[in-house]
Amino acid sequence: MSELPSIEDMVGPGFTDDARTSHAAIGRYYTDPVVHQIEQDRVFGHEWNYLGHHSELPDPGNYLVRDVAGESIYVIRGKDDELRAFFNVCQHRGHQLLQGRGTIGNVVVCPYHAWSYGTDGTLRGAPKMRQVPDFCAADVALTPVRLELIGGFMFANLDPDAASLREMAPRFEPALLSMVAESADLHPVRTRSFEIAANWKIVTENFLEAYHVEFSGPAHQGLARVIDTETYEFDIDGRTIEYRAAGGAPDTLPYESNEHDAFTNTANAPFQQIFLFPHTTFSVFPGTNVVFVFNMAPSGFDRCAEEITYFSLDAEMTEPSRTAEAYISEQLNEEDIALVEAVHRGVGSRGYRPGRLMVDAEEKEGWSEHFVHHFNQLNVAALRRHEPSSASATRIAAASASARPNE
Ligand code: FES
Ligand SMILES: [Fe+2]
Repeated sequence: MSELPSIEDMVGPGFTDDARTSHAAIGRYYTDPVVHQIEQDRVFGHEWNYLGHHSELPDPGNYLVRDVAGESIYVIRGKDDELRAFFNVCQHRGHQLLQGRGTIGNVVVCPYHAWSYGTDGTLRGAPKMRQVPDFCAADVALTPVRLELIGGFMFANLDPDAASLREMAPRFEPALLSMVAESADLHPVRTRSFEIAANWKIVTENFLEAYHVEFSGPAHQGLARVIDTETYEFDIDGRTIEYRAAGGAPDTLPYESNEHDAFTNTANAPFQQIFLFPHTTFSVFPGTNVVFVFNMAPSGFDRCAEEITYFSLDAEMTEPSRTAEAYISEQLNEEDIALVEAVHRGVGSRGYRPGRLMVDAEEKEGWSEHFVHHFNQLNVAALRRHEPSSASATRIAAASASARPNE
């Protein structure tokens, strides 16, 4: 395998530890398939990845397949009501077991030779294998994946030795419960999916900074009226970034609203947004009864699958929430997708020399880009922390072989 790029090769010499003096990262960080493969392995392969909410799998046998770090995994509810996650691969000759989401009977049956597995991952049947000398069915089981629930939301980690999510992001659970105390009782109302032609980090950076809000289109101008800017505050705590504010004047919001406060919100902030590294944001907008979860999963070095799922306590959306959902999913998101796709095309240009970030001296300004820098510091720390596994070394080598020479 050719030598892996160093961290400096990936982010460029201008990206430094201090947000106030740092430049943005170089184009290669966003556009090189080798960097993407290294990230899949070292970042997504060791961090806690959002899967969904436990209410999406209410009954025994319900399952949900997700891609995590380039691997297919599934989470399934057993007869004992336990949720468990496994790599989605048969332990015979490796056929994938499940697709999408759905419900199985008692066992997961492999479509290839019909080996079957219980919801606990143990092998329950293997046709004709009795005649195989020394075959011991009790020795065969699916490879488990770590699963952790916080406020009813499910997260998976492919690294069996990783610390728990509560340890890795101690602020996340209290932040989530301060936003929606009844988080474990939420139910999905609707999901919107977008395939975005941009690297996941560009989409995430755009999500984290409000610098662009007042300059970048009519829906964004409306966003500035969603909150009372005088009350806007934020906290950065490792992998968790929280944003809070009082709501803007109801008659100037870019969607309908009502006075009804649907959730027990101990932060007293009708607008709240919680980013959890690496790629998920939980959000409540004033005057709505829904929690929005934005998940930005990389589906390639130049593509990102954005999924927005809306949850409420009664599995219904109020009329104001419907208008807010349409505003966020359609108008605002459309403007953001156009922005990030144009950035992706731009940073790939040989004419791009990364600029300074707009960061105030104290890093106190809510509109500043130090959030962007913090996010990339987390990503770089994860890139430094882990060695690539042998499985991913093969994928990284394949990506290196097919990558265009760096311009
Ligand atoms: S690969 Fe699954 S039964 Fe053969
Ligand atoms: Fe935006």
